[in-house]
Amino acid sequence: MPASFSIASSPYSYFVNVRTGIFDEMLDKLYKPHIITDEFFHPLFKYGEQPIFLEATEAAKSLDRMPALIEQLRAAGLKRGQEITAIGGGIIQDIVSFTTSIYMRGILWNYFPTTVLAMVDSCIGGKSSINVGPYKNLVGAFHSPQHIFIDPALAETLPRDQFASGLIEAAKITFVRGPESFARYLSCSPSIDMSTPALESVIMEGLTAKKHFIEIDEFDKKERLLLNFGHTFGHAFESASNYAIPHGIAVGLGILCSLAFQRDRGISFHGITAVAHLENHLDTLIRTFPGLSDRLVALNPGDIYSRMASDKKHNTRWWTLILVSPSGEVISEHMDPRGDIADRIRQAIASTIALFS
Ligand SMILES: NC(=O)c1ccc[n+]([C@@H]2O[C@H](COP(=O)([O-])OP(=O)(O)OC[C@H]3O[C@@H](n4cnc5c(N)ncnc54)[C@H](O)[C@@H]3O)[C@@H](O)[C@H]2O)c1
Ligand SMILES: [Zn+2]
Repeated sequence: MPASFSIASSPYSYFVNVRTGIFDEMLDKLYKPHIITDEFFHPLFKYGEQPIFLEATEAAKSLDRMPALIEQLRAAGLKRGQEITAIGGGIIQDIVSFTTSIYMRGILWNYFPTTVLAMVDSCIGGKSSINVGPYKNLVGAFHSPQHIFIDPALAETLPRDQFASGLIEAAKITFVRGPESFARYLSCSPSIDMSTPALESVIMEGLTAKKHFIEIDEFDKKERLLLNFGHTFGHAFESASNYAIPHGIAVGLGILCSLAFQRDRGISFHGITAVAHLENHLDTLIRTFPGLSDRLVALNPGDIYSRMASDKKHNTRWWTLILVSPSGEVISEHMDPRGDIADRIRQAIASTIALFS
């Protein structure tokens, strides 16, 4: 079902349209030199049309690549009062959000997300994150697009593991929102073979859940932090694999680690059906990643633990972990990461790796 809604945010409210076919309808009307897109979409443009193409890699998302892009925007004649259109996944989104937040002290932009991850999650919330040297997502700003146009049909060309990666983020957001939202998500029968109309329903469920968190806590002070569920472990898997493991797959592994960690502390989750459903669902999606077991056996739980230690959400003495409580609620817990906690974290990582090896 096509839908449109707005997101309240402090600088300005912005708008989201979800409708299959909207991309093809609008592409012709866009001024091509002011489009920034993923090289993957080269075939969509006619000879002579000159959008700015970028490769969708973590290297392209680094601060030292920004001056060249800013010069390209200047060469394309982009002035204050004009708008950029971004077409791509989370990488293109992060780059465009960041550069438009600083170009001539800020210009407006609109966004067509093209990955499931960007459609269900990152397209709203306003964050941009850019890598600096070896540090992922170290700098950024809050700078939302004016208008987000979501065409679920664009996801039809995604590789299977990229599709699964996005579904894992949708599972995460709806699980964090609560059992009703997660049950509605599961009732769409989410899988990498799902139909485009079913994906449209998943996108609506994911965005509705995320809208709740970003509207009550726009700047990530309290409730929104719960959306980092699976991410402290997940980012460590992602970077330990040198970004060979897609973000959502790594988050799925991270969620399984956080559940293993709680079990090791004596929490059984017995009778909490949502937890059992989440684990089964994640297991299926994670296995879509080709070469998973080879990648995982090459990782070292001690190395993953050290990478977790540098998570920017911790302070020097206390770590903040997002965990599932004995009643199945997602909660934030501060803990001293030394002694037995460190052992349990390493053990949770090792047992999760063993599940897929
Ligand atoms: N700013 C935020 O709120 C936020 C949130 C989550 C993730 N992120 C960032 O997003 C990035 C990951 O983004 P992503 O997973 O959306 O993907 P991506 O942009 O990294 O793209 C993944 C791959 O899919 C390809 N691709 C994109 N759209 C396609 C399509 N329709 N068909 C076929 N191939 C397509 C790309 O070329 C690339 O090879 C990470 O850098 C992460 O840090 C940002
Ligand atoms: Zn994520």
